[in-house]
Amino acid sequence: MGFVIAVDGPAASGKGTIAVRLGALYGYPVLDTGLLYRAVGVGLLKLGGDLDSEAAAAEVARRLDLTHLEDPALRTRAAGEAASRVAVHGDVRQALLDFQRAFAAREPGAVLDGRDIGTVIAPGAPAKVYVTATPEVRADRRFRQLVGQGEAVTYDEILADIRRRDERDGHRDAAPMRQAEDAVLLDTTEMTIEAAADAARRIVEAARARWEGSPG
Ligand code: CDP
Repeated sequence: MGFVIAVDGPAASGKGTIAVRLGALYGYPVLDTGLLYRAVGVGLLKLGGDLDSEAAAAEVARRLDLTHLEDPALRTRAAGEAASRVAVHGDVRQALLDFQRAFAAREPGAVLDGRDIGTVIAPGAPAKVYVTATPEVRADRRFRQLVGQGEAVTYDEILADIRRRDERDGHRDAAPMRQAEDAVLLDTTEMTIEAAADAARRIVEAARARWEGSPG
C-alpha cells in the first residue's frame, strides 16, 4: 500500500480543506468521498425517487459516473441533506466501495476525506486524522459558505442541520461516523484554517516518519 492519508470527521469540521492542502503538499490525488454520496442523493432526487428507498438509491449509486463530480449542485444545503439520507443504506455504501478502495490503492499515495475512511475504506492507512469542532463553530463556517454561494439560509437552520446530520451519521448501522482507534484527533474549534492545516500536516509528518521506518 502507498501512503494513504485518511481524513474523517463531521460536516464543516475543516476536513475537506485539510485534505486538499495535504494532497498538494505530497503531490497526491485527493478524493472528497462526500461528493459520491451527494451525487447519489442529487441523482435520485432528479429522478423523482425516494431517498428512503435503499434499492432505488443503490441503483443510482451503481450507475453513477464517479469521475465527474464537479457539478456545483452537489455543494448545496439540499445536496448535503440528501447525501446523509442515502448514506445510511448499506447497499449504497457497497456500490461506492470499490471505487474508493481503488483510489486509496493509488501509488505512491492518496488522500481521502469522509466519515469512514479510517474505519472501513482504508483501515490500514498509515496516517489518520479525525477532524472535529463544536457544532456551533461548524454551523458558523457552513452558514458563511452557503451564504457565499448565494443560498438564503439562517444560522439557526444550519445549526439544526448540522446537529441532525451528526446524529444520523453517527448512529446509522452501516459504517457509522466514528474516530478510528489509531486516528489522531484534531479539534479545530479555536483554529483558523491555516492553523488547522498546519496541525494536520504535523500529525501526518509524524505518521510518515513512523511509516518510513517500519518494515514492509
Ligand atoms: O461537507 P460535509 O461534511 O457537509 O458533507 P460531505 O462530507 O460532503 O458528506 C455528506 C454526507 O455524506 C454526510 O453527512 C454523510 O452522511 C455522507 N458521507 C458518508 O456517509 N461517508 C463518507 N465517507 C462521506 C460522506
